[in-house]
Amino acid sequence: MVISLHSPLDMHLHLRDEEMLDIVAPLSARTFAGGLVMPNLVPPVTTAEDVARYRGKIRKAQGENRFVPYMTLFFKSDYTPEFLESVRDEILAIKLYPAGITTNSEGGVSGFDLKELSPVLSVMSDLGIPLCVHGETGGFVMDREAEFIPIYERLAENFPDLTIVMEHITTKEAVEALERYENLYATITLHHLYITLDDVAGGLLQPHLFCKPIAKRPEDRSALLNVALEAHPKVMFGSDSAPHPREKKEAPGCAAGVFTAPIALQGLAQLFDRHGALENLQAFVSDNAQRIYGIRPLEKEVVLEKTAWLVPEIYEGTVVPMFAGESLEWRIVSAG
Ligand code: NCD
Ligand code: ZN
Repeated sequence: MVISLHSPLDMHLHLRDEEMLDIVAPLSARTFAGGLVMPNLVPPVTTAEDVARYRGKIRKAQGENRFVPYMTLFFKSDYTPEFLESVRDEILAIKLYPAGITTNSEGGVSGFDLKELSPVLSVMSDLGIPLCVHGETGGFVMDREAEFIPIYERLAENFPDLTIVMEHITTKEAVEALERYENLYATITLHHLYITLDDVAGGLLQPHLFCKPIAKRPEDRSALLNVALEAHPKVMFGSDSAPHPREKKEAPGCAAGVFTAPIALQGLAQLFDRHGALENLQAFVSDNAQRIYGIRPLEKEVVLEKTAWLVPEIYEGTVVPMFAGESLEWRIVSAG
C-alpha cells in the first residue's frame, strides 16, 4: 500500500543551534514542507536580529531540502507595539513559556498576571499574531496541564480574537477545553499518541521517552487519539521533536524531550493505518494547520509505503530517536 502526503507540516519543532542544528535540520527538512520553529535557544529568540540570524542558520543547515522554517519569538511582556508591528512579517507566532517549566524557559512568564500580559496580547490580537502556549503550572507533575486549563480559559475569554494554540496537549481536560472556546486550538505530538506514563516509567526507566509535558494516563491518550484520528479541525500535528545529545538523556538529571523528527511521518502513517484512519492523515498533518495559521506551504509530495523500516539506533552518533532500533511498518519512498 502506498500513500502520498501533500506538504506535511510540523507545527511545533525544536531545531536547536550549532552542531545539533546541523544534524537535525536536514532530517525535518527532508520530509516536511515547513515547521514552526521554537524559540527556546540559549539565550532565547527575542529580537528581530535573533529571528533573522536563526532563520539564516536554519536555511544553511537544511541544505538542498525544500523547507520553510516558520519563525517564532519567545514571549516577553515588555515587547512594545512598535516592535511587534515591525517584526510581524518575520514570524508566524509568539511562544509563551511559564518561567522554568521546561528546557530553556527560565526567562518565561511568572504568575500569569493578565494585567502584565495584556498589553502585548492585545497588540498580538490586533496584528493577528497567534499565541502558542506551553500550558503547565508548577503543580504536581501529572496535574500540571489540567491545572493550567483555567489560565487558557481566561486568555481565551479576554482575547476572543487572539488565536491561542495549546501546545503538545496530553490530557482529556485539554481536549474538552478545545470545544468550549472558538479561539483555542491545539498541537498533538506523535509520542503522546503512542505512549502513556507506563511506557516512560512503568518498567525500566526510558529516558528517551521522558518529556514535558510527561505522558499521562490511558484515558488521556484515548482522548488525544480520538481528535487526532478524526483530524478534528482544531488540532494539528506538532512533533515537539526535542533533540538532546545522548549523554544528556542517558544520565542522572535526564533532559526532557523526545526526538521524533526523522520518524514522525512513518510513525503517524503506522498509527493512522492501524486505526483505519489513513484518509484523515493529510488533514492532521497539513490541512488543519494551513487553515488555523492561514499559511500556504510550499508544494511538496511525500510518498510512503507499507514496508518494514528499521529505525536507526542513533543519528550522527549524537541523538537517539524514538523507536530506535525498532521496526516501523511504513517507510518513506520519496519526498520532493
Ligand atoms: C522541549 C525542549 O527540550 O526544548 N522539551 C520537552 O520535553 N518537550 C521543550 C518543550 O517543548 O517543553
Ligand atoms: Zn516543545
